[in-house]
Amino acid sequence: MSRTLTLNIFRFNPQDPDSKAHMEAFTLDETPSMTLFIALNRIRAEQDPSLQFDFCCRAGICGACAMVINGRPGLACRTRTADLPNEINLLPLPAFKLVGDLSVDTGTWFRQMYQKVESWIHTDKVFDPHAVEERMDNQLAEAIYDLDRCIECGCCVAACGTALMREDFLGAVALNRLARFILDPRDERTTQAYFDLVGTDEGIFGCMGLLACEDVCPKQIPLQEQLGKLRRKMALAAVNNILPKFMKPLE
Ligand code: SF4
Ligand code: F3S
Ligand code: FES
Repeated sequence: MSRTLTLNIFRFNPQDPDSKAHMEAFTLDETPSMTLFIALNRIRAEQDPSLQFDFCCRAGICGACAMVINGRPGLACRTRTADLPNEINLLPLPAFKLVGDLSVDTGTWFRQMYQKVESWIHTDKVFDPHAVEERMDNQLAEAIYDLDRCIECGCCVAACGTALMREDFLGAVALNRLARFILDPRDERTTQAYFDLVGTDEGIFGCMGLLACEDVCPKQIPLQEQLGKLRRKMALAAVNNILPKFMKPLE
């Protein structure tokens, strides 16, 4: 027998001065293989066309449908209602600007953070569109790809206590992004250049090792490993900066 689900959904329209933040309950019958994305679409189609939430790919690729599901950030399109209790609470991701109801603006946040860590290959080589692409060792290419799989959903930011307390904290995702460029031999930045970008409390030294970022990442990106490596590299750079010049730099 199919269950009747109750979805308690956060409602607020920041554009409307009369709108007051509240939770609204919707009920609907569960269907086989239902995802939260399907449930929300049905509510919008059958009960309230004004309900705001984001989606694009429906396949865990675009990162648009992230929200807080029973207290935990996750993707609506990859969450099956069968894995949830009869009562489901849905809130927008914190840490991002609210667009309305469950919809938040992650794009502005990501653009600012990527600008802060200068998220592009830094090289003096002039690009030649006719040259044969330089070869890269397979293992290295795969290691870079592993860190490049981020879908910018924002779950790791929303789950991070530091990011919620400090607006300026770069967050695991931006630090992971930098780790990807450190691995890439085409990026000619020095360790000191990376240190100048993230060797601060806004950057790697602001991370308190709370671990929630990796717990909620829907792409299972090894954020802890990358944060650990980056912390060690930046700590050594900090020590090198205070050592007298004649001493060999630590690596
Ligand atoms: Fe989402 Fe994971 Fe990327 Fe964070 S690192 S934005 S949780 S995919
Ligand atoms: Fe936050 Fe992850 Fe560090 S949850 S404090 S970025 S380990
Ligand atoms: Fe694209 Fe959910 S709709 S990740």
